[in-house]
Amino acid sequence: MSANKDSDGGWKSFVWNSEKKEFLGRTGSSWLKIFLFYVIFYGCLAGIFIGTIQALLLTLSNYKPTYQDRVAPPGIHTPPRSVKSEIAYTKSNEESYRKYTDDMNAFLKIYDIDIQTEGQNFEDCGETPQTYIERGGLEDSELGQRKACRFSRSLLGACSGLKDTNYGFKDGKPCLIVKLNRIVNFKPRAPTNNQSLPEALQAKSQPNLIPIYCKNKREEDESKIGEIKYYGMGEGFPLQYYPYYGKLLHAQYLQPLVAIQFTNLTLDQELRIECKVYGANIDYSEKDRYQGRFDVKFTIAS
Ligand SMILES: *[C@@H]1O[C@H](CO)[C@@H](O)[C@H](O)[C@H]1NC(C)=O
Ligand SMILES: *[C@@H]1O[C@H](CO)[C@@H](O)[C@H](O)[C@H]1NC(C)=O
Repeated sequence: MSANKDSDGGWKSFVWNSEKKEFLGRTGSSWLKIFLFYVIFYGCLAGIFIGTIQALLLTLSNYKPTYQDRVAPPGIHTPPRSVKSEIAYTKSNEESYRKYTDDMNAFLKIYDIDIQTEGQNFEDCGETPQTYIERGGLEDSELGQRKACRFSRSLLGACSGLKDTNYGFKDGKPCLIVKLNRIVNFKPRAPTNNQSLPEALQAKSQPNLIPIYCKNKREEDESKIGEIKYYGMGEGFPLQYYPYYGKLLHAQYLQPLVAIQFTNLTLDQELRIECKVYGANIDYSEKDRYQGRFDVKFTIAS
């Protein structure tokens, strides 16, 4: 009974010892010192933290990426969007391919020539593939906005969506659009030797063009994929659209597009097709299946 009373009293006096004026075993000034210590300690930590971030930010430019070694050029984007790059639909059922054509419509909207006006900082860059158009250094910020080359969707011919709003899907001749992803300051180089190109491209090779070529991925599909048509300026990616100056300096920039139409695919079969972009500095990777090339799988039901 008395032991119980003692321990109870001990606890209370630990919390507030009125004799020594101690709170939890320390005097007011002792607590104040500890409090001050931690304020300074955490203040310094925060200072170091903010300081290093500021120092790092000072080394970054608004215009030029500091490190680009992680972007192995160039990734490829292929509207219409598809799940696992598989395009499957029924020719006779509009609903089954509406999602693809809707996606193409949305993607091509910015390529309507009507909105590429002078006031929007566009200019004409020729109708055939030409060499790069340099628009000053990335760091010349006083040059301000750089002009962008117009690219009209009408260059995509049967795949432009201007005449055939179904992009060939209705007739079992679907179109794909191919775009190389933007990389600031990247200049793709045309293929330098003929030998590395597929035969069909060798005769057509042009000095200012990055060509693209598709073929069956599996041996057994060779006779089933039919003729493939290419549309775009020079049926490839013309070099005058490069380099790209980044979002701040090149706000209106449009990537050149290539449209690919598969005009005679065998119906009711799964067909695998691989398309590759060819250039002296275009690499392919085992790991990234969208670097410099892509696969697509078609299954069109009649
Ligand atoms: C590639 O070969 C074709 C003929 O096969 C030739 O006309 C063309 O000039 C060659 N191009 C280059 C860059 O060697
Ligand atoms: C389409 O492909 C088939 C074989 O799959 C062929 O018999 C036919 O001639 C081709 N049509 C055209 C227009 O090339």
